[in-house]
Amino acid sequence: MNLVRGIVASVKQPVENARHEHDRAFIEQLASARRAPQTLPMTEPTEQERPRGPQRPADSITRMTEYVLPTHANALGNVFGGQILAWMDLCAAICAQRFASTICVTAGIDDLSFEQPVHVGHVVLLEARVTAAFRTSCEVFVDVRGEDPSTGRTWPCVSGFLTFVAFKDDKPAAVPELAVSEPLELALLHAARERRDARLARRHKQSAPSATGAVVTPRP
Ligand SMILES: CC(C)(COP(=O)(O)OP(=O)(O)OC[C@H]1O[C@@H](n2cnc3c(N)ncnc32)[C@H](O)[C@@H]1OP(=O)(O)O)[C@@H](O)C(=O)NCCC(=O)NCCS
Repeated sequence: MNLVRGIVASVKQPVENARHEHDRAFIEQLASARRAPQTLPMTEPTEQERPRGPQRPADSITRMTEYVLPTHANALGNVFGGQILAWMDLCAAICAQRFASTICVTAGIDDLSFEQPVHVGHVVLLEARVTAAFRTSCEVFVDVRGEDPSTGRTWPCVSGFLTFVAFKDDKPAAVPELAVSEPLELALLHAARERRDARLARRHKQSAPSATGAVVTPRP
């Protein structure tokens, strides 16, 4: 019996350590989120427009675990970036929908850089949480790590911010307020507002009329 407990403990311990490292790395990633300088005004939704009371970021945390099969891999045996992106979008969409209590569509994904590959036979760990709520949109941070299930070792793969728009009756609908209390959550919210302004300024610039009066359509 002790042997069984010992085996279970020796298997669980590296996994527990990996989970703690994962959480620490996640917080560090969030803390180092990039900032952008532009600012644009935003009208706050009225109390009547808000679907329900404030929601805590911690309640939106969504985790997914995926196993990398040969069908997910490229010729080098690493998972395709597009596959990781699809899992990120899915994890973040579930997170946004839990937060907003309604269907949410992906409005945008900030630029991503893949740090380290994940091989066939390894595990992909995804964790998403809402970092900011605006009027009808919310920002979701997703952290992705690789895990070797035979050792419990984990490593950073990619992380990024995705924006979702809540929908009701086929049109954008107000999202709940984000109830931030921790200093880190407040800092993240502040940085998210700046990122939002930068996204909207980029969007505005892309659809602005050119000097000749023609509307500049962004390249696909
Ligand atoms: C995203 C979408 C709803 C925006 O529609 P729109 O007519 O521009 O609506 P609005 O101008 O009212 O914007 C709605 C919200 O989207 C946000 N938004 C729009 N484009 C954005 C972008 N590129 N990045 C981040 N946020 C964006 C706006 O800031 C606004 O948020 P707010 O209310 O919190 O301020 C619309 O472009 C759409 O449906 N796109 C397709 C979404 C989709 O199908 N995704 C799945 C992948 S194909």
